[in-house]
Amino acid sequence: MGENSELSKNNPAIPIKPGSEDAWIEKVLAIGKSIVALEQTTPVTLPLRPEELAEQVDLGISPHGTTFAQVLNDLEQVAALTPRTSSKRFYNQLFGGRDPISTAAELVVAFANTSMYTYKAGGINAVIEEQLMAKISGLLGFSDGEGTISPGGSISNLLSVVLARDNAVHQNGGPFKIYTSELCHYSIRKNANITGIGRKNVRFVKTDDRGRILIDSLVNLIEEDLAQGDSPLMINATAGTTVLGAFDPIRAISRIAKKYSLWLHVDGALGGAMILSKKHRHLIDGISCANSLTWNPHKLMGVPLSCSAFIVHQKGLLEKSLGEEADYLFQSEEEGMADLGATSIQCGRRNDALKLWAAWKHHGDQGFESRVDSLMSLAQETASLIRQAPQLELVAEVASVNVCFRHKTAPAAWICRQLEVRQLALVSHALVGEEKIIRLPLVNLDTTLDDIRLFLGFVVEVAEDWK
Ligand SMILES: Cc1ncc(COP(=O)(O)O)c(C=O)c1O
Repeated sequence: MGENSELSKNNPAIPIKPGSEDAWIEKVLAIGKSIVALEQTTPVTLPLRPEELAEQVDLGISPHGTTFAQVLNDLEQVAALTPRTSSKRFYNQLFGGRDPISTAAELVVAFANTSMYTYKAGGINAVIEEQLMAKISGLLGFSDGEGTISPGGSISNLLSVVLARDNAVHQNGGPFKIYTSELCHYSIRKNANITGIGRKNVRFVKTDDRGRILIDSLVNLIEEDLAQGDSPLMINATAGTTVLGAFDPIRAISRIAKKYSLWLHVDGALGGAMILSKKHRHLIDGISCANSLTWNPHKLMGVPLSCSAFIVHQKGLLEKSLGEEADYLFQSEEEGMADLGATSIQCGRRNDALKLWAAWKHHGDQGFESRVDSLMSLAQETASLIRQAPQLELVAEVASVNVCFRHKTAPAAWICRQLEVRQLALVSHALVGEEKIIRLPLVNLDTTLDDIRLFLGFVVEVAEDWK
């Protein structure tokens, strides 16, 4: 006690007044309020260079610390300078908006600061995660499924490669081969590298004009590899590709996976949400035949980053690949009070389950379903607006929530940059074939058709300055 107060005297960074909690918690909530207010007044921040940012906040860490009050002020300033990724003008990536109930849950998580690795530390939160995993398994039609929440879709996809490798059927002496769409997310290549399979052993399957894997091309690659003595390992089917939002034909792919005894993973980071919608579930028809699935509720369901579910069709497979003895940590002795560390990649693991649970509990199955349906409709309505605009053109039919389009005269990258520097909107460009186009993902549940009209108006307006 005495030691602590001595330390506090010399180190102004440590809050010293007993009972000061209320004051700083109020200040934190005030910062939260100011972030929300700034999203209205300046929905797009000026893109400043690092040295310009460093001029606005003292970023240095001094040997003697900084007062608690000063750091809280600095935090407020950092928040003000942070790109407004929750504003309605943010269309840059596949996440956006703010779902109040899951943000509330996220605050609870920050205060509780528990870890999900053991039942002892996670308690009720571990029960919640297991319940969520069971619910998603049920929706997928996995009668014996299990799952874990990972730090993102890339890591969920990594888990699929690890489990496929540990349960490989073909061990022909030649290298393992992974088959995936030429339009897949880059984590597939990265994960091949991380697992030692190697980037060069990722086989890219050609796609049709709507961005879906061509089955003939898939079969040809597998046959070629078998003839060479290689070891086909897994097929990664994408449900909602990163740019076009396209869905690979899972049922047809599952027949090929079965025929050649390959692991079938579905990267549904974006489109896994279709399990929630009766209207759009056909897009992932055949999903119950998959071995594993990635689904990121932090994309289409508006749950705060990060929240990704990795679900596998058979209980016990996660522990087979990830379970380790650690006497100092795993001390659960009672049946049903499992330590989730045995089924996850991390040791200490933050609680990303609570915000999904809170959102799902609040909105219900029906609320989640109507969220998916309304975003899918919004994307189609946006496509109609683009068809009607003489200066704009769709690049591809809209497959889900990403609308890819071009301006007929001004280049996509130039338009995106102009929208940013003029503080009108954040949106990104992407390659479709050889062409850079504008990709507009509709993932923010608060976005209205009027917001889209405004956005498209900005695109047309800035493009007038292109010479
Ligand atoms: C299809 C697909 N898979 C995986 C990912 C990676 O997800 P995360 O950003 O959570 O790592 C993305 C990200 O956009 C994606 O579009």
